[in-house]
Amino acid sequence: MVGAQWGDEGKGKIVDLLAQESDVVCRYQGGPNAGHTIVAGGETWKLRQLPSGVVSRTPSVIGAGCVVDPQVLLDELELLRERGIDPGIVTVSGNAHLIMPWHLTIDQASERRLGKLQIGTTRRGIGPAYADKASRLGIRVQDLLDPKILRQKIRLALDEKNLWLERVYEAEPFDLDDIWADMEVLAHRLAPFVGDTSLLVHDALGTGKNVLFEGAQATMLDLDHGTYPFVTSSNPIASGAATGVGIGPTRIDRVLGVSKAYVTRVGEGPFPSEIEGPQQAQLRELGGEFGTVTGRERRCGWLDLVALRYAVRVNGMTSLALTKLDVLSAFDELPVCVRYRVRGGDETPHFPAHQSDFHHADPVWEVLEGWAQPLDGCTSVADLPPAARAYVEFVERELDVPIELVGVGAARDSVLA
Ligand code: IMP
Repeated sequence: MVGAQWGDEGKGKIVDLLAQESDVVCRYQGGPNAGHTIVAGGETWKLRQLPSGVVSRTPSVIGAGCVVDPQVLLDELELLRERGIDPGIVTVSGNAHLIMPWHLTIDQASERRLGKLQIGTTRRGIGPAYADKASRLGIRVQDLLDPKILRQKIRLALDEKNLWLERVYEAEPFDLDDIWADMEVLAHRLAPFVGDTSLLVHDALGTGKNVLFEGAQATMLDLDHGTYPFVTSSNPIASGAATGVGIGPTRIDRVLGVSKAYVTRVGEGPFPSEIEGPQQAQLRELGGEFGTVTGRERRCGWLDLVALRYAVRVNGMTSLALTKLDVLSAFDELPVCVRYRVRGGDETPHFPAHQSDFHHADPVWEVLEGWAQPLDGCTSVADLPPAARAYVEFVERELDVPIELVGVGAARDSVLA
């Protein structure tokens, strides 16, 4: 299951629904930058680090491709315990990387330095942690199991990080003993959750179990295929599930994309279908479009089929879930971006391969009729007003991918199949 847009598509709810039919749920990339909201059994869950499957007590995996903030993870494991769920259902890959305190400081300091050119990150240390992983300076979850190695790696990292912090970012350096005192406690508490998650998933697949891979962030935030540099530092697209968990790509049978019936984006970067005028604020209020992790206002736009078509392609999407259709009930007319007009005046249905073309792309709209009535009472697709149905079918036709699920409200059961 992958985000088909810029994140916040309502994946938490869909994954919670699919988790009921899954034997294992895995996160394969990202870290506590995710903010998955799930409403189930009268309780609201806001998860950042754990797979959403935990809500339905499904065994859950944090794969090697993830970055883990140990304190956030421990807090969420504690939350499970408080709500009567055995945290022992969670296994964390020893190969996942740890977000260390300096990663948070550097994320914040580097955004400050960029000023107007900032990426608008969640400031949770994600980029700096992945950067250290790539430069082989990272500290992994399995290092928690060996105090000697852990201390040595922290010292090695601090030798370099403190120089950067003081000389480049003019920030306070970290003290090895302070960090060590915290990490020793965290290590002790996290050790029981560390395991061989690649083997766990392999064995589950081998015995015919259903494994769900839960993408965080989304296609347009993919490090390689998103709108770089306004992206996250991992690979949310479907193929990331194979690398991020440690299984072959041939093991993936289906790819479900999740898209809102409109678009939102947090952070900076071009956004052709962004709504101009007061309807943007109206849509934001109606859809509750404020960040789960950061509380930031999300930018809102009408549905962008050019970007979605691209998401269908790069994910090899086999079906789509369209969420929050109910939020559009308030509007008489619903513009949908069907093509981009690029420099020179040409129109294209394809997402531009080069950033400057994307930056200068203007939306070409098709205006669909609204349905001007709430969708609360709809319990099957047959209950949808004709215009709402027409909206869904239009999207399906334009993308040439079946829409499998339609979201009409926040609760677990407000999804039509
Ligand atoms: P980072 O992942 O914190 O480095 O942020 C990089 C970009 O990804 C920024 O534009 C963030 O707003 C965006 N981003 C990261 N996580 C999420 C998410 O869960 N939903 C929406 N946007 C996200």
